[in-house]
Amino acid sequence: MPDRPLELPPRPPVPPALIGRIRQVVGDRGCLTEPQAIAPHMKDWRGLFVGRAPVVVKPASTAECAEVVRLCAEARVPMVPQGGNSSMAAGATPFEDGAEVVISTARMNRIRAVDPANMSLTAEAGCIVKAVQDAAEQAGCLFPLSFGGDGTAVVGGVLSTNAGGNNTLRYGNARDLVLGLEVVLPDGQVWDGLRSLRKDNTGYCLRHLFMGAEGTLGIITAAVLKLAPRPRDVQVAFCAVPDVAAALRLLTLLQGRDGPSISAFEYMARFGLSLVLKHVPGTTDPLAGPHEHYVLIELSSPRPDAHLKESLEAALAEAVEQGLVADAVIAASDAQRAALWKLREEMSDAQKPEGGSIKNDISVPVSAVPAFMAEASAAVTAALPGIRPCPFGHVGDGNIHFNLTQPEGMARDAYMAEWDRMVDLVNAIVRRHGGSFSAEHGIGRLKAHTLAEWREGPEIALMRRIKAAIDPAGLMNQGKVLPPG
Ligand code: MLT
Ligand code: ZN
Repeated sequence: MPDRPLELPPRPPVPPALIGRIRQVVGDRGCLTEPQAIAPHMKDWRGLFVGRAPVVVKPASTAECAEVVRLCAEARVPMVPQGGNSSMAAGATPFEDGAEVVISTARMNRIRAVDPANMSLTAEAGCIVKAVQDAAEQAGCLFPLSFGGDGTAVVGGVLSTNAGGNNTLRYGNARDLVLGLEVVLPDGQVWDGLRSLRKDNTGYCLRHLFMGAEGTLGIITAAVLKLAPRPRDVQVAFCAVPDVAAALRLLTLLQGRDGPSISAFEYMARFGLSLVLKHVPGTTDPLAGPHEHYVLIELSSPRPDAHLKESLEAALAEAVEQGLVADAVIAASDAQRAALWKLREEMSDAQKPEGGSIKNDISVPVSAVPAFMAEASAAVTAALPGIRPCPFGHVGDGNIHFNLTQPEGMARDAYMAEWDRMVDLVNAIVRRHGGSFSAEHGIGRLKAHTLAEWREGPEIALMRRIKAAIDPAGLMNQGKVLPPG
């Protein structure tokens, strides 16, 4: 377990009278106090932290949310905004002292508008990402944010953490997909920035402050999201490559031939694939024999006559000739395509039955991925013989989930006690390559210390001044992103 303590100042318990006033605003349905009802909101998705709060509030509208925040602010009670509670950095989990009110966006889940002519969609914060994808598809468009957890994660959460996912190399991160925001500010005022303009040079770009802030500056309650044309030709290949450097040369080859069509370029090591095949029912190895390294390639185009299959076949033939691909299969149907993606998307869950897993969501310049992988694997293996690196992820944008599965036979707790030592080792290598210790999962509680250690010069001081300007009482998501003090 990460064990650098975050020293929050002592905080008084939430006054029962405040809970009563909140109940008057949101009704019984929106004010959960029963231990069983609030339990799922108290622990983070990774199972690293279990917090405590006397109440989970579920406002049904922006107006209700604003009034709840106003009441908490007036009582000077800290608040923890929560979306789908699938943060990978414990960004939405309350602390253990029971001093916070959790405000969940779960009931604010309407799609307010779809505007295909403007290629935009307005969704409330509690909309599940998958529901936004479906609504966009019904309108003949694509909402391109896509990742394994998109059936659980919600709009407010993915924007607050600036999530990435599988299609970043083509469409950008979550913040690149936003035209406007509506935010409940820490004093309960509502900022209506729900503009759906593609050009709007009117001073500081406030919406970008709230994306990546992980609820420390306010609660995102709705967003105008950018859509893309719906792909009508989608091709997926699963390829064995001799090494990570070959994977990148393959990417370069594809970019040279048909760069704009690449919508995903994902890496997997044999170890990760073997865990999926072992633990996820219904999965099979798509290739005849085992290989150490794999990439999943997706090409897509809105043109039904884009002939991407032929293009992919030709590219892979050239790659085989150059020794960049050892074996490959191209999905021949929607079902096969889904089966290949499943191998990649189950990668996170498939690690769980193997015991402790130490997580590193890192990024380096794409060109530095092979060196990073070699150096990091050597460093952790030398430091803890038997450790099982499970690297996978979005190699096309330089984001590797350099996860580390515990040695076989080691006690889970003893392994998890190595968290900080292993993460520091990996981060030192990331730093040497000019990378980031947090690529797409955010900072949350898990990495608040690391942020302060990594950012030099005026950066942290500037962040603290922004925090103080927008949340002068410091009530929003205390101890997340910026460490106390
Ligand atoms: C993914 O890309 O599957 C997730 O971001 C990874 C994770 O669970 O670390
Ligand atoms: Zn990822």
